[in-house]
Amino acid sequence: MASKPKTTHIPLAQPLLAGNEAKYVMDCLETGWISSAGSYVTQFENMVAQYAGAKYGVACMNGTVGLHIAQVVLGVTEQDHVIAPNITFIATLNAIKYTGAQPILIDVDPRNWQMDLDLLETYLREQTQTETKNNKVVTTDKTTGKRIRAIMPVHVLGNMGNMTRLQELAKAYHITIIEDSTEALGTTFKGQHAGTFGSMGVFSFNGNKIISTGGGGVLVTNNEALAKRAKHLTTQAKVSAMEYIHDAIGYNYRLVNVLAAIGVAQMEQFPEILKAKRHMDAFYREQLRGVGDIKFQSVCNNTQTNGWLFTFSTKHMRALLAYLNENGVQSRPFWMPMNQLEMFKNDRYITKTDVSAHVYDTSISIPSSAGITPEQLETVVKTIKEFYDL
Ligand SMILES: Cc1ncc(COP(=O)(O)O)c(C=O)c1O
Repeated sequence: MASKPKTTHIPLAQPLLAGNEAKYVMDCLETGWISSAGSYVTQFENMVAQYAGAKYGVACMNGTVGLHIAQVVLGVTEQDHVIAPNITFIATLNAIKYTGAQPILIDVDPRNWQMDLDLLETYLREQTQTETKNNKVVTTDKTTGKRIRAIMPVHVLGNMGNMTRLQELAKAYHITIIEDSTEALGTTFKGQHAGTFGSMGVFSFNGNKIISTGGGGVLVTNNEALAKRAKHLTTQAKVSAMEYIHDAIGYNYRLVNVLAAIGVAQMEQFPEILKAKRHMDAFYREQLRGVGDIKFQSVCNNTQTNGWLFTFSTKHMRALLAYLNENGVQSRPFWMPMNQLEMFKNDRYITKTDVSAHVYDTSISIPSSAGITPEQLETVVKTIKEFYDL
């Protein structure tokens, strides 16, 4: 039989399942502990929290529900605003909308594509007021009169902005930080891990993330009461082990044991995976520097990224995207900015020059699997160089 010609296919982001995943899943199957109870859930929560340097971890179905529950636990309601960057994956905004709160979108920094802290500061100084209401100091938006309850920085692409400055702003204006650190397991700022700079942080273990449980999330916090409340609300707010008595409108947001088992196996390999990702990031930066008009997302001095998904900027983004995909190098455009999406068009967008639109128009993500081989990395670089030489 004639064999088909070999075609290149280098995927954008594939999980690396090279450890005890099958063994631990088999353990769940053999013991019958496949569902909502079982020891892998607690083990996974502890491993993620410990890795991030947080005291508590609460596993949940995915990062999106983690972001939702973090806001619920911290009291975000339809009376509030939540500040978020204009460039993020839609789940951040969806999670805000689930609470009924109104997002305020902040344009991104042209250098690192994270929330622009100058714009944030100007907005807080000029368009909000801080006063004492019912013995609480609150900051409200001058136009809507709604309280700014939370800031949700997103560590876009596993990179991270100046968290010290963000913390100072949040403190000055009495606003809670909830970190969308879904993409940032392994990322640090001044040696402190993503997810631990505010009241709560959320990691995602979706299939494309640095490690994966298929679908999953873990909330981290140093506050025991918040962790307990999050656990309670994600598990239907049941108050008795025996009786079906519940004390709140809860959610069935728990992570099942069989997925947590995969998570435990993934966490065991995480140091190696992180090393591979950072190696990949360094390789791409070295090989693609000076090629065509390529510009990299810059990284703050104090940030060590996890190198999650390599994304760069070029005027020729659309043509390069087509060329790479035609040649088996799976690539993707960046997220459409939130202010351009129909659902969020009427939400406030704080910007000067709409950097988000430029980042969107020019950015492209290239293959970044943890298990990408040296040959595949060479092929990606070679194909990109070919494009610019055409
Ligand atoms: C920035 C960002 N926020 C939120 C999410 C939601 O996570 P999940 O897919 O686990 O719901 C993701 C990933 O998918 C993400 O990249």
